[in-house]
Amino acid sequence: MMIKYIALFSLLLLTNCAYHATKVTVVGAGNVGATAANVLAINEVAAEVVLIDIKEGLAEGKAMDIMQTAQLVGFDTVVKGVTNDYSTTANSDVVVITSGVPRKPGMTREELLGVNAKIVKTVVENLIKFSPEAIFVVVANPMDAMTHLTLKLTGLPRNRIIGMGGLLDSSRFKYYLSQALNCNHNDVHGIVIGGHGDKTMIPLARFATYKGIPVSTLLPEEKIEEVVKNTMVGGATMTKLLGTSAWIAPGASISHLVESIVKDQKKLIPCSVYLQGEYGLKDVTIGVPVVIGRNGVEKIIPMDLNEQELELFNNSAKAVKENEDTLKDLGFFN
Ligand code: 2OP
Repeated sequence: MMIKYIALFSLLLLTNCAYHATKVTVVGAGNVGATAANVLAINEVAAEVVLIDIKEGLAEGKAMDIMQTAQLVGFDTVVKGVTNDYSTTANSDVVVITSGVPRKPGMTREELLGVNAKIVKTVVENLIKFSPEAIFVVVANPMDAMTHLTLKLTGLPRNRIIGMGGLLDSSRFKYYLSQALNCNHNDVHGIVIGGHGDKTMIPLARFATYKGIPVSTLLPEEKIEEVVKNTMVGGATMTKLLGTSAWIAPGASISHLVESIVKDQKKLIPCSVYLQGEYGLKDVTIGVPVVIGRNGVEKIIPMDLNEQELELFNNSAKAVKENEDTLKDLGFFN
């Protein structure tokens, strides 16, 4: 009997030692970062969320505000805010980079390249020092180029560097489709591939369905074209309405992506990843459908694109690569 108890006790001790509470760091306590931390907490995606910002007191304030909703909403996640002290982020499982300057009305994401690259560089260097095992989720714009930069700066395998953009764009695509179909938004499926830019993203209308029924059989061509156009400028529309870039859908998209990582959900999510021959492309970081699990990007899903879609994709890759080459020219990496 005694031996049985000792064995049980040792087992409990062992499982306790092996237990690692999930920790997620969100860099940037602006609108997007703070909303991401809030949704991560509400959905209890991680045991601990660290929100970090360079602006004195901002992350602390946002974290406190979120924590004061914990008993109202009923979540156990602990959100901590900290000013620029990266030691607090140590041993994060996932780090999310939202820091950088947001778009102003009339501005493109690409115009943020130089200034945000400097910010992202400092952030990445700090993160990797304290969380060498983390999966990196990049949100700062222009997102594809910032994801490429993060890959080069960290030297990590490509599965651990994920750009979040395609998920948000796809969500906007589904929203506009459900409006056009006048249907339940959860019954609509559709993905957006290519760059996360007004001119580079490709909402794949041919693959979009209403519960498996191709939308092309339900909507006139002009309506589908309108949905595609609205999706492509979805971010700019928000910027025009709000005076700054959107944060609620971006924040929720971050939480959705991080959840698939930490809970190993293996969801199919369009993300920006470094291609090494997939889709006929190399050395470019761009949005394609991937399976996201505990190892980050676990699979890149091929798509049978037709000639027109392939042309759009290749043009998108060319534009994205121009940004990535500019970063090279500016000396951010070789
Ligand atoms: C957007 O599309 C901020 O890039 C983000 O709203």
